[in-house]
Amino acid sequence: MESIMRIQTAIVLVAAILGSLPAYAADPAPIAFAVPKDTDMPKGEAGEMILLGRRLMSETKRLLPDHVGAEMTCASCHLLAGKVPFGSPFLGTSPAFPQYAPRAGREITLAERINGCFLRSMNGKPLPVESKEMKAMLAYMDWLSKDLPPTKGKLAIQGKGIGKINTDLVPDPVNGRKVYDRDCAICHGADGEGKIDARGETVFPPLWGDKSFNIGAGMARTYTAAAFVYRNMPLAHGMNGLLGQGGALTEQEAVDVAAYFSHQPRPDFPAKVKDWPKDPKPKDARY
Ligand code: HEC
Ligand code: HEC
Repeated sequence: MESIMRIQTAIVLVAAILGSLPAYAADPAPIAFAVPKDTDMPKGEAGEMILLGRRLMSETKRLLPDHVGAEMTCASCHLLAGKVPFGSPFLGTSPAFPQYAPRAGREITLAERINGCFLRSMNGKPLPVESKEMKAMLAYMDWLSKDLPPTKGKLAIQGKGIGKINTDLVPDPVNGRKVYDRDCAICHGADGEGKIDARGETVFPPLWGDKSFNIGAGMARTYTAAAFVYRNMPLAHGMNGLLGQGGALTEQEAVDVAAYFSHQPRPDFPAKVKDWPKDPKPKDARY
């Protein structure tokens, strides 16, 4: 009897310890990150739609000038058009939708999620769901996930999302500015303005100002931006040919620099008043 109680106590203790660990330590990640090669796109009409979707990810503004306000492409944040682990990839995105979105307070389709990024991250206008371009983007995302198990819902894929960051770290924007000047300004500009080339293509996306994402974007939140920056910036070519070097900044530096640039002036998003109608706001929400 006594030994059973001892075992019970031990179980409770282990459970308490596990419960207090950050979620990423316990996340199962059984599916290895692997995306199909562009050269494996099917021929014919289906392949053309996938290819158009692929191009829309990295030539977003040129192909859709009426829908994009920022000097950014989808690939500014979804690295290599959604093919980089922890670079907010689109592997596993299609099967995970429709899904409940706390920010909207209801279930949303993948097209609605894409339009969320058009409205906020691209500071632009939504694409009609029936448009050829929307269908092409959906076709591209479906194709990226074609080799995954045919299960619907969120799959545990290594490198899905942007990774976690310790949200107990208190941001120090003064140090963040130092990190910015040291490690970021060379590409993103002394005033966060980024750089476009002679044809108007984005070379380095802006981090703040009129041409950046608006205040309603996920990247305008300190810890979302910090997690992305921690694993992907400063940008460089990794050992295995992917973008991002990761590990160049400490988590604290990533939080500091994220707090610094995310809180700089940027376009407003008036519809923000409708966000999080039911669920609690994340602690780094700006409004
Ligand atoms: C300023 C950065 C930024 C830009 C530009 C951007 N996004 Fe996003 N997007 C995000 C962030 C941040 C998330 C949430 C990532 C996470 O937490 O995993 C996201 C999530 C998504 C998701 C959900 C992915 C999933 O698997 O749940 C889709 C789909 C998406 N974006 C599509 C687009 C498209 C299409 C474009 C271009 C029209 C675009 N995004 C431009 C930052 C951006
Ligand atoms: C060597 C150039 C380079 C350096 C240095 C660099 N970046 Fe970037 N950054 C890029 C490029 C290029 C992209 C867009 C990704 C792409 O086009 O593949 C990007 C994208 C981003 C994005 C998402 C898009 C946006 O505009 O919001 C953020 C946030 C970001 N960088 C933050 C930083 C921070 C913070 C630092 C310093 C710690 C930094 N970067 C250093 C080149 C750089």
